[in-house]
Amino acid sequence: MRILFIGDVVGPPGVTFLRQALPPLIAREGLDLVIANAENAANGSGLTPSLYRKIREAGVDLVTLGDHVYKKQDVIRTLESEDRVCRPANFPPDAPGRDFAIAPARDGTPVAAFCVLGRTFMRPVDCPFRAADRVLQAIGDGARCVVVDVHAEATADKYLLGHYLKGRVSAVLGTHTHVPTADEQVLPGGTAFICDVGMTGPYDSILGRRIDRVLSTTVTFVPSAFDVATDDPRLAGAIVDVDSATGRATAIRRIMLDEKGLAALA
Ligand SMILES: [Fe+2]
Ligand SMILES: [Fe+2]
Repeated sequence: MRILFIGDVVGPPGVTFLRQALPPLIAREGLDLVIANAENAANGSGLTPSLYRKIREAGVDLVTLGDHVYKKQDVIRTLESEDRVCRPANFPPDAPGRDFAIAPARDGTPVAAFCVLGRTFMRPVDCPFRAADRVLQAIGDGARCVVVDVHAEATADKYLLGHYLKGRVSAVLGTHTHVPTADEQVLPGGTAFICDVGMTGPYDSILGRRIDRVLSTTVTFVPSAFDVATDDPRLAGAIVDVDSATGRATAIRRIMLDEKGLAALA
C-alpha cells in the first residue's frame, strides 16, 4: 500500500495547488491513501468547514491539524461531526475534536492517523508520548497501519517520538516547521520517519508569509499584516510504502512538486 502524507497546506495558494496537483499525482504514483496536515489552510492559520470539504474533494482521505487547529472556530462543528479529521491528541481531554481518524485505503485496508504536538518552543501541552500510547490503545485492532503526524518545532522532539513508536506504527512524519528535511529513513521495526515533510504552499515566502512584511517587521519591530504569499506554489510530502498485512513500512521517499513538475505530470 502506498500512502502520501502532505505537509502543512498554507492558504489559498496551498489549497489551490493541492487541488490541481493531487488527482494527477494519485494516478501517477498509484496512491492508495492520502493524508494532509491542514492547520494553515484558512489564510495561513486554521481550517474552515468549506476548506475541509475542498481538501477532502481533492482526494485527501484523512486530515490532521496542529497548534493552529482552533484559529477559525467554525471548524469546531467539522471536528465534532466529521470522522476523517482529528485535532492534536495531546490536547486537554475536553478540547473539541477526535484523537485519531480512520479511513479505508483503496483496497479497503483501514489506515489510522493522528497528530501530537511537540513541547519544545511551543505552548505547553500534555505529554505526546503518553498521548500516543493512549491513542494506539484506543485504535487497537481498528487499524494495523497507523501514521503519526509529529507536529513539533524541535528536531529532537521528532526523533524521540520516532524512536518511542518504532515498530509500533507505520510512520512518524514531521510537520509544523514548513521546511523539509533530508533525513527520511525506515527505522527498525518498519517505521518510516522524517523530521519534516515541508509545507504545501507558496515557497517565495517566509514559511508561507509575504517576505516584505515579515522582513520589515523583523528589522524595524513595526507590526504589519503577515499575509500569505502567492508565488512558487509547491506540494511537499512523503510517500510511504506499507505492507498492509503487517503495517510495517518498507520505504519512504520525499516529494516536492512545483508548477513545472505539475505541468510535466499533466
Ligand atoms: Fe503549520
Ligand atoms: Fe504548526
